[in-house]
Amino acid sequence: MTLDIRKIRSDFPILDNKVHGKQLVYLDNGATTLKPKIVTDEINRHYELEASNVHRGVHFHSENATLKYEAARRSFVRFLNARSENEIIFTSGTTASINLVAQSWGRNFLKQGDEIIISWLEHHSNIVPWQMLCEEKGCVLKVVPINKSGEVDVEAYKDLLSSKTKLVAMTWVSNAIGTIVPIKEVIDLAQQVGAITVVDGAQGSGHFNTDVQELGCDFFALSGHKLFGATGTGILYGKEELLEKMPPVTGGGSMIRIVTFEKTTWAGLPDKFEAGTPHIGGVIGMAKAIEYLHNIGFDDIQKWEHELLLYGTEKLSSVPKLTMIGTAENKAPIFSFVIDGIHPHDMGTLLDQEGVAIRAGHHCCQPLMKFYGVPATSRASLAFYNTKEDIDALVNAIAKAQEIFA
Ligand code: ALA
Repeated sequence: MTLDIRKIRSDFPILDNKVHGKQLVYLDNGATTLKPKIVTDEINRHYELEASNVHRGVHFHSENATLKYEAARRSFVRFLNARSENEIIFTSGTTASINLVAQSWGRNFLKQGDEIIISWLEHHSNIVPWQMLCEEKGCVLKVVPINKSGEVDVEAYKDLLSSKTKLVAMTWVSNAIGTIVPIKEVIDLAQQVGAITVVDGAQGSGHFNTDVQELGCDFFALSGHKLFGATGTGILYGKEELLEKMPPVTGGGSMIRIVTFEKTTWAGLPDKFEAGTPHIGGVIGMAKAIEYLHNIGFDDIQKWEHELLLYGTEKLSSVPKLTMIGTAENKAPIFSFVIDGIHPHDMGTLLDQEGVAIRAGHHCCQPLMKFYGVPATSRASLAFYNTKEDIDALVNAIAKAQEIFA
């Protein structure tokens, strides 16, 4: 292990917090990641010393804000290995990015009878936008089954693919149970039938290097707040030739070329999709976050998180009455579990009393919970600043909860 975890943890001031008199153990990174001081400093600097709008003013601070905002776009070109700035659209997050594809590409290029494929693993934000589109356009939603371990059934996926398949939208990493989907294979197979591909990268890009050209996807969505940046920020990557043909879905300032009462013409890429004043401070902060990640390095992050995954899997397997939900061969460090006799919400509350923050609920994946026959799970989701001691604290807190319920 080459990560200097002690140093890394000191970059996140919140990790010093005590909760109910106990040291905070933050294991809710699937919901949102923590923010290093370098990121919050950058955001604060924008608001305290450099606040200004972008793309509008000729005064010093406005030009400075525009320079930083557009530099952030270039940072994401490099981070995702996109081909140009025209392929990076700033959005409010993954949900907005997926909805943009559905409402722009989907509405304009899909017709009755066309098929859209998703999987049983999907978060509601990669189900509902497609359902809305299907209702409007008369398209058909097909769902790839998963096995008991929570792995996508690739053979069943192949059977669902046909000339009717026009779009495949799939998650890279399951937020609820941690499965890493063989997304490159999913994309390659979709391309063989000429389908457009959308990757929900919300839970992937904070753990692994993201290379959209290597993946070959048409669209890739991510959230800034799951990438150690601010909430309300995100990216839609799209291939330029597709984005060029897509109409905007939100009208307003910044996205126009000429406005008359008779007709309005659109700005070019990427402005066409960024109506209104964006989350400038958040975007600048998000660029700082990926610079921070780059300096640590995804190879080391991945190695450390894998070690945590193995350690946590072993430790939790020795907890009596605990059933792990999602046991895929290929997993991100996410542990979703149920414990006989204790509702996940009670478990979440009792763990909180010990300073251990997890998420309890359906994780915006009601169909997946139905698949496993549970209303909810307790979910501990890790990031690179977590430690084996955090996992020990989780296991000890579960034991205390079990004592109380006994
Ligand atoms: N999608 C987020 C989660 O998994 C909020 O918790």
